[in-house]
Amino acid sequence: MSKESISIIILAAGKGSRMKSPKAKVLHSISGKPMLYHIIKASQEISNDITVVIAHQKEAVQEQMEALFDDINFVIQDAQNFPGTGGAMKNITPKNEKVLVLNGDMPLITADALQGFLSSDADIIMSIFDLKDPNGYGRVVIEENAVQYIVEQKDANDAELATTTVNAGVYAFKKSLIKKYIPLLSNENAQEEYYLTDVIAMAKKDGLSIAPLLVDEEHFKGVNSKKDLADSEEIMQERIRTKWMQEGVIMQLPATIYIESTVSFEGECIVENGCRICGETLIHNSHIKAHSIVEDSIVKNSDVGPLAHLRPASYLEDTHIGNFVEVKKSSLKGVKAGHLSYLGDAMVDEGSNIGAGVITCNYDGVKKYKTIIGKNVFVGSDTQLVAPVTIEDDVMIAAGTTVPSGTVKSGNLVLSRVKLRTIKEYFYKHFGKK
Ligand code: UD1
Ligand code: CA
Repeated sequence: MSKESISIIILAAGKGSRMKSPKAKVLHSISGKPMLYHIIKASQEISNDITVVIAHQKEAVQEQMEALFDDINFVIQDAQNFPGTGGAMKNITPKNEKVLVLNGDMPLITADALQGFLSSDADIIMSIFDLKDPNGYGRVVIEENAVQYIVEQKDANDAELATTTVNAGVYAFKKSLIKKYIPLLSNENAQEEYYLTDVIAMAKKDGLSIAPLLVDEEHFKGVNSKKDLADSEEIMQERIRTKWMQEGVIMQLPATIYIESTVSFEGECIVENGCRICGETLIHNSHIKAHSIVEDSIVKNSDVGPLAHLRPASYLEDTHIGNFVEVKKSSLKGVKAGHLSYLGDAMVDEGSNIGAGVITCNYDGVKKYKTIIGKNVFVGSDTQLVAPVTIEDDVMIAAGTTVPSGTVKSGNLVLSRVKLRTIKEYFYKHFGKK
């Protein structure tokens, strides 16, 4: 089926009260991006007419999605007068013949998982799955081998509650059915909401064909609570890690590694246990050692950690970063920074060695300034570099030096040590001799 013949409607207007959060449910993050982002991303692979229904915190939802996507339509639900998933469909006039409706709280969905909705010719295709614990989902009542109706948990009787076949929350409708049935929905139910799910019983009564499509929780799990959010994150992480291991990344204790959906790897990389790799990060032929954090950075032919922190806009090439080193918005090429340093707003060139405890003093409380270190510079331990400062090539900085703003010329040694004083036997004067 071509992208032009499918319209996708994503319902993202609900309050999400079960999340117990001031933030709109669909904006809660899975692997670094809002839930809604993942759904739109999957939708874009099969349709170029995507509409997101918004109401609760509509400005925030629209703003965040517009920052991520160019060509999404937004429709506002009159949630006051027409609450519920059926109410969300009131202002929808789909463009294309086939209309796929997705809940906005199923971040695990993929384009592949949606293929089943495109293959059948039934009037309605609806997603179902069987769960050991159906709690929270609408139950699908199947009799005489056919779907009869969907009943929401809050409206269900004991027999219906015992049903383990549930509605997964994705439907494909023929366009004409939206026009026909949405206006007929009523809110006479436990939640006084307009349920989209009631369309099923109406269509069944009218003799339309309803095809149930068996789907899996791995892709269709709905997120209603923070527990669901955590469970979905685990599934997504497992998926991301498996993909990268298949691509050739070595992971030690993968279950302890968190990798966001925007991260990519090239060549042979090793990621040790407990690492967190986030944002627009690229790791190329590198080794990220245990318990390191990498955010929005590029790491090429380097080794990082254990226990290192690369903050956004760090660029590392042929570089060694050791434990307790923090790097931010800095470019390091052919550099060794083995221990306990802060390198912020810095550029360090080939062959330079950053001793233990070196700190770039990049901030004066008002503005941030740059530190530029040339080639083959030896920065002794416990040095403070007060930015803006330039250290030219072939410079030695003695341990314990405070280098003030300015330039240190090529070939020089700088040192700012107070002469060592010795007061003989002072220890014993102070503490007494035992
Ligand atoms: C819904 C289904 C349920 C199904 C489950 C699958 C209905 C009535 N129930 O229940 O049968 O098992 O999904 O996950 O459809 N929304 C709006 N406007 C509203 C209310 C909700 O746009 O007024 C959006 C929400 O933002 C959410 C989606 O619709 O993304 C589903 O709403 P939610 O309240 O989570 O429905 P469930 O109770 O999970
Ligand atoms: Ca839900």
